[in-house]
Amino acid sequence: MAHFPKPAEGSWTEHFKIDTSPTSYEDSISPEHYEAEREAIFKKTWLNIGRVEQLPKGGSYFTKELSAAKTSVIVVRGKDNEIRSFHNICRHRGNKLVWNDFPREEVSGSCRQFTCKYHGWRYDLDGELTFVQQEGEFFDLDKQNFGLAPIRTEVWEGFVFINFDNDAAPLKEYLGAYAKGLDTYPFGKMTEVYKYRAEIGANWKLFIDAFMEFYHAPILHQKQAVDDESRKLREVGYEALSYGVDGPHALVSSWGGMAPPKDESMVKPIERLLRSGLFGLWDAPDVGPIPEAGLNPTRHKAWGEDSFLFFPNFMLLVWKPNWYLTYHYWPTSYNTHTFECSLYFVPPTNAYERLQHELAAVTFKEYALQDANTLEATQTMLESRAVTEFPLNDQEVALRHLHTTARAYVADHKAEKDQASA
Ligand code: FES
Ligand SMILES: [Fe+2]
Repeated sequence: MAHFPKPAEGSWTEHFKIDTSPTSYEDSISPEHYEAEREAIFKKTWLNIGRVEQLPKGGSYFTKELSAAKTSVIVVRGKDNEIRSFHNICRHRGNKLVWNDFPREEVSGSCRQFTCKYHGWRYDLDGELTFVQQEGEFFDLDKQNFGLAPIRTEVWEGFVFINFDNDAAPLKEYLGAYAKGLDTYPFGKMTEVYKYRAEIGANWKLFIDAFMEFYHAPILHQKQAVDDESRKLREVGYEALSYGVDGPHALVSSWGGMAPPKDESMVKPIERLLRSGLFGLWDAPDVGPIPEAGLNPTRHKAWGEDSFLFFPNFMLLVWKPNWYLTYHYWPTSYNTHTFECSLYFVPPTNAYERLQHELAAVTFKEYALQDANTLEATQTMLESRAVTEFPLNDQEVALRHLHTTARAYVADHKAEKDQASA
């Protein structure tokens, strides 16, 4: 018996017209499929690569290694305040332009121009080539034609996105209704950031799977709650308040019983002391008006958190006590990816608040570690192909949608290519 109402069709999966039969995970273990995803997805869709706070002034820059799209990117704020992105390659002989000690490491900083380490060509913040060493040795070189290779860059609510496809629809159109619902959310007030990054031995989609369902939570994370509470959670199981799908994007809307808990004895002593934990601070800071239309779609009073997946690899979790977190999953091969998590709070005004943030951040990390090492165990056995079809339940609808969407992007891209070459 469902605790929360389901759509008239009887299940979320059927409601969204997604096939309910057992699913193949070949899309997560095939090197060829991954190669196709690089072209069809990572070179075609809007990718969130950071936030405007990482570029506080004209000349601020950071680089992003995008193995999935086979490039490295420089993101820079110009003197005119515009944020631009370029492929991180020198036009002279292809050296990576911006890096410090290790060419594969991401860097950030601020500068007035970019100078190539190899032969000293210089580029201004708009990407124009401004200086060529021994220019007279070249053959009819017109500097105007040798600026950095630009990449489309657009910003939504402080989130900086790039797209390698010049024909793609504008960012806001692509992000659709979920982003529209969050327009004016005070992301810009939540600038106290805690970041984690991990190399994961699993396909990028497997980690999204683990964050788009909480069916696993009462089992995999049972040691995180006190014994009594943990037993209760296992008996009840997990149901989301609702699920949503908007084009390639998806939403899991969840209750959040621990901020604050109904019964304080269900949480650990340090959580009682600091009034904080996995669900964030129990006492929400004042951030002014929240665009309520975009959150808690069922208007449930037990609502605690909405997890948005903006396809392909950007998750945004907005929590009731006025904080948010982001996940990014950057593929590095068919069975590895770099996982990034960032938690954003309103800056603390005293040491107690700072400790509240720290507790939320470390509690989160414990959970994420449990999720991550399970993924490696899953990846290795999926690769055995000893079993090839897996039954997903209705609480796993959002991940079914993710895999269906990713496969459709690959199929559509292949069809377009076949048509072009016919
Ligand atoms: S490769 Fe950059 S100046 Fe030669
Ligand atoms: Fe988890």
